[in-house]
Amino acid sequence: MERRKVIIDCDPGIDDSLAIMLALKSEEIEVIGITIVCGNAPVEMGFGNAKKVLRQMGRLDVPIFVGEKRPVRREYVNALDTHGEDGLGESYLSEVDGYEQQMDAVDFMASVLKAEKVSVIALGPMTNLAVLIDRAMDAFLNIEELVSMGGTFKSHGNCSPVAEYNYWCDPDAAALVYDTMYENGKKIHMIGLDVTRKIVLTPTILEYICRLNPETGDFIRKITKFYFDFHWQWEHIIGCVINDPLTVAYFIDRNICQGFDSYVQIETQGISLGQSVVDSMNFYRKEANAKVMTEVDVLRFFRLFLSRILDVKPEELDILQDII
Ligand code: RIB
Ligand code: CA
Repeated sequence: MERRKVIIDCDPGIDDSLAIMLALKSEEIEVIGITIVCGNAPVEMGFGNAKKVLRQMGRLDVPIFVGEKRPVRREYVNALDTHGEDGLGESYLSEVDGYEQQMDAVDFMASVLKAEKVSVIALGPMTNLAVLIDRAMDAFLNIEELVSMGGTFKSHGNCSPVAEYNYWCDPDAAALVYDTMYENGKKIHMIGLDVTRKIVLTPTILEYICRLNPETGDFIRKITKFYFDFHWQWEHIIGCVINDPLTVAYFIDRNICQGFDSYVQIETQGISLGQSVVDSMNFYRKEANAKVMTEVDVLRFFRLFLSRILDVKPEELDILQDII
């Protein structure tokens, strides 16, 4: 099987960390670099958290590059209320020293993409991608596939009635990315809240994880406890929505999600700032610039996610259909 080269642009972040774990354990993907963007956590904290995840996975060979420290225009608003004051569920894992790279995230993206086509899985605000467009449009247009966790079509927002955090945190960056995709006849894969909200890591699934692989389970339990408490407090959910791993899983197996092509714009001001406006009825008569995902096969996702991160065969996950 040919492994697909991927840059993971993220803001770790609890669910970003689970997504990185999945990507590193999937033979379909070669993670050639992880780029950090300000989002859930300030960018330096995100850098530190990414190192902790790579240490856990025994993969400190994967380079990490520090990206933009603030949105292109708006004031930066983090999501530490959701991810804990350390950005990793207040697990307070020991820091990994050193590991600084010589170039920043956007220069890394530009250097790689000027040389070859590589895909980008974007799991945070799109600030790094917007700066890449400004700094090296030719490199941005050489992205083989751009898959983004962000936005929402019919599901309510998580930062306002209509806006999802990644696009709300830096709406100008998201708008520039979607507009650039439109102007160049390309489509971004939008994995929004319509599908990610259905991916709930429950206490039962966590217990199952810990029994199948105690070491990995212990790490996941440590970084998700705060997230469970947050979801109960704010959304009265027993469990936690893990948005970002679905995005990686979709990159690997397109049958996990179904959706439709549509023209999408991102609102950059006013009460619906950050909203992904999906023109599903084609009012604007514009060519689609996005593949908007609306349905998800939850069991298919968890079978792929758990088998990879726990090193078990899918057929060994016999009770999964009873606990999803
Ligand atoms: O709205 C959810 C998204 O925002 C996820 O990617 C989460 O990690 C945060 O970045
Ligand atoms: Ca994220």
